[in-house]
Amino acid sequence: MIFVTGGAGFIGANFVLEWLEQRDEPVLNLDKLTYAGNLHNLESLQGDARHIFVQGDIGDRALLERLLAEHRPRAIINFAAESHVDRTIHGPEDIIQTNVVGTFRLLEAVRQHWQRLAAQEQQAFRFLHVSTDEVYGTLAPDAPAFTETHNVEPNSPYSASKAASDHLVRAWHHTYGLPVLTTNCSNNYGPLHFPEKLIPLMIVNALAGKPLPIYGDGMQVRDWLYVRDHCRAIARVLDAGRLGEVYNIGGWNEKPNIDIAHTVCALLDELRPRADGQSYRQQITYVTDRPGHDRRYAIDAQKIERELGWKPAETFETGIRKTVQWYLDNPEWVAQVQSGSYRDWVAKQYGRVND
Ligand code: NAD
Ligand code: TYD
Repeated sequence: MIFVTGGAGFIGANFVLEWLEQRDEPVLNLDKLTYAGNLHNLESLQGDARHIFVQGDIGDRALLERLLAEHRPRAIINFAAESHVDRTIHGPEDIIQTNVVGTFRLLEAVRQHWQRLAAQEQQAFRFLHVSTDEVYGTLAPDAPAFTETHNVEPNSPYSASKAASDHLVRAWHHTYGLPVLTTNCSNNYGPLHFPEKLIPLMIVNALAGKPLPIYGDGMQVRDWLYVRDHCRAIARVLDAGRLGEVYNIGGWNEKPNIDIAHTVCALLDELRPRADGQSYRQQITYVTDRPGHDRRYAIDAQKIERELGWKPAETFETGIRKTVQWYLDNPEWVAQVQSGSYRDWVAKQYGRVND
């Protein structure tokens, strides 16, 4: 089996669903269920013996040791993190605890487990760390996109914590020989995205008749990748990536934030027009910029394409249409997330989440 951490969050849940749609290899899923973890995301796997969920913290060494000894996974895929830049600006303690200390404890537990394996199992073992393009810092408008050898120059508490975890992973490979892989991906979007992030926030606020807040001048550029493309890239790196290597993953799709807002509004105008016949664009509101806001991220994804043959299957046009349609088709998911009732739901449906 494989061992996924943070598998109740946005990308982790999409990864678990994609994995079990494609393969029969079971998944052990460890998630702390912070506000961002939502077991409702995995509802379709209820009763599926291939998915074992455990509520817990990647920083809990005793729990990790027990799970590793009991389930003997052949690979770890580490998604668990505090992931929201704005939230972590207001309170950076949790990101240090989870993204840095948590990754360190996970690495240590895995190292000790791995060192006790037989040589053949040791060789086949993998630790895949899921990271972000934000570790590279910001780019000038005409600078070439980030390659894997770009300087690591994080500017936010979030990106600094992810860069720290990437360094730990690298060091555990070089010092202890742990068979690691690291992926640095651009901004994801798609189903199950928590509506604190730009794209789902635009969709749910538009439908609720609320303002669509655009930070600063809205000309900050991100490279957007459909989440299932990211999941397939991770699976490909796990299967065939070279040990100790970093793979950048991106959608070749740079867009300023204001264009994203306009695209979402145009799709909603088409698919769910406002009752008053006006465009959702009317709801766009410029607000105070994020402190230390990185101006531009862009990923050069040639290495993963050249070495592993991965390319995104979705264009931005197909991916964003699917995404908007998913939010229109899943108002209960949105309502539960907005009211916080998904957390009560978890307690009710999964009374015994603690394995
Ligand atoms: P998310 O916030 O939606 O999910 C994170 C999950 O981790 C949640 O289910 C949460 O409950 C869990 N978690 C948090 N702290 C934990 C802990 N101490 N122990 C166990 N579980 C814990 O985040 P996401 O967007 O799904 O991102 C997943 C990973 O991908 C993160 O490592 C993030 O840095 C990385 N990443 C995200 C993006 C993006 O655009 N969202 C892009 C590149 C990389
Ligand atoms: P976000 O989805 O938070 O991802 P990240 O900060 O990891 O890139 O933000 C994406 C971009 O959208 C970023 O430049 C900040 C901007 N943004 C807004 O303009 N308004 C918003 O309400 C949010 C949440 C983000």
